[in-house]
Amino acid sequence: MRDLQNKHILLGVTGGIAAYKSAELLRRLQDAGATVRVVMTRGATEFITPLTMQALSGLPVSLDLLDTETESVMGHIELARWADLILVAPASAHFLAGLRLGRADDLLTTLCLAATCPIAVAPAMNQAMWSNVATQENCRILRANGIAFFGPDAGLQACGEVGQGRLLDVPDIVRLTTEVFPSGLLAGRTVMITAGPTREAIDPVRYISNHSSGKQGYALAEAAVEAGAKVLLISGPVALAAPQRVTLINVVSADEMYAAVMAQIAACDIFIGVAAVADFKPVAPAPHKIKKQLLPSPAAAGPARDAQTVSEPRTLTLSLVENPDIIASVARLPNRPFTVGFAAETENLLTYARQKLENKRLDLVIANNVADSSIGFNSDNNGTTIISADATVTLPVASKRQVSNRIIAAIANHLAAKEGQP
Ligand code: PMT
Repeated sequence: MRDLQNKHILLGVTGGIAAYKSAELLRRLQDAGATVRVVMTRGATEFITPLTMQALSGLPVSLDLLDTETESVMGHIELARWADLILVAPASAHFLAGLRLGRADDLLTTLCLAATCPIAVAPAMNQAMWSNVATQENCRILRANGIAFFGPDAGLQACGEVGQGRLLDVPDIVRLTTEVFPSGLLAGRTVMITAGPTREAIDPVRYISNHSSGKQGYALAEAAVEAGAKVLLISGPVALAAPQRVTLINVVSADEMYAAVMAQIAACDIFIGVAAVADFKPVAPAPHKIKKQLLPSPAAAGPARDAQTVSEPRTLTLSLVENPDIIASVARLPNRPFTVGFAAETENLLTYARQKLENKRLDLVIANNVADSSIGFNSDNNGTTIISADATVTLPVASKRQVSNRIIAAIANHLAAKEGQP
């Protein structure tokens, strides 16, 4: 199995007797196709040498935040951006406490703070330390912040005590690592995604539209393909290349998008409405280009005037009528697919997003704040909150592609739960 093919994993090793198992973990992650770089805390080097990890990974091991040699190979921010996943195994009680507090007093905690990728921890410590209320509170906060926990396991510990706190077995850590990435999560599913803006004609040369670039929808289409799904992408006009292995259907207006969706929705298991569909369109687009000279003037009744004699600007009134609500129509179908909407808001983000979840009868809504130009329309990054009827999970700001992986994983989990799968 090469489930981690092309994946970059930053393996963090902290101080504890289980650190010796990180050498085996590194090899098994490589076997699964991952490129692994290792970061060790000073405590970890008391249990296993950096030379061992360097020889196995074939890459320099990073130890210190202020080490000019390793910084010159790859700076710590660059290292954090390089990773598709930071996996800390074993994660000591001390490390978890520092991570919970957002400390940046060594290289590993600093990398976690700078990371935009998912972070997973595999705790290993004495059973009393694990069950201590302080550790449990730290873990509760970390889980709420989206940190994935792999274990710990229960059983006989190196100290001779028995209880929960053992590092999870290496094959289990590798399996859970592969589940962070969407590969195979949507195998056998057909997913329809709408993306980009729509254009609503005023006349043959003018239209009403919005700033959607299609980047988020296209990134989701790529992530869904990687997750094993068959993907139909219904796209408004954008300047992006068609993603590979996706069936792309180009449309212009909301009416065309509605027709394209409805024509094929019966074959779909999942519908994701990322498109910024224009809510309104002109009632009657002019059949020919509207000539401003022919518009009535507010100041001068009588013959049409030329530009020089105009003292007051002319006005043009457009009558608009509501477009079909595509996603609400999909959600009303008797055999509806799992239906996921997006909510682009500039204020009251979560309140409005929850209203959309209810009013449009969605399974999930992904809220994004488009008032922040660094994470909204046309940006490369997004900051999103995944909202279902009973949970609200905020994802860290990351590239639209990385965010898409997380959204696809969430959709797969919710769909499995809805279908009653384990
Ligand atoms: O394309 P990018 O530049 O990458 O930007 C991404 C994005 C900001 C456009 C995207 O992340 C996003 O938020 N898309 C939804 C934008 C939006 O118009 O939201 P809305 O609140 O108007 O609509 C809510 C939901 O209903 C959406 O799923 C929308 O696709 C759907 N809808 C809306 C109106 C309509 N007539 N039909 C619909 O299906």
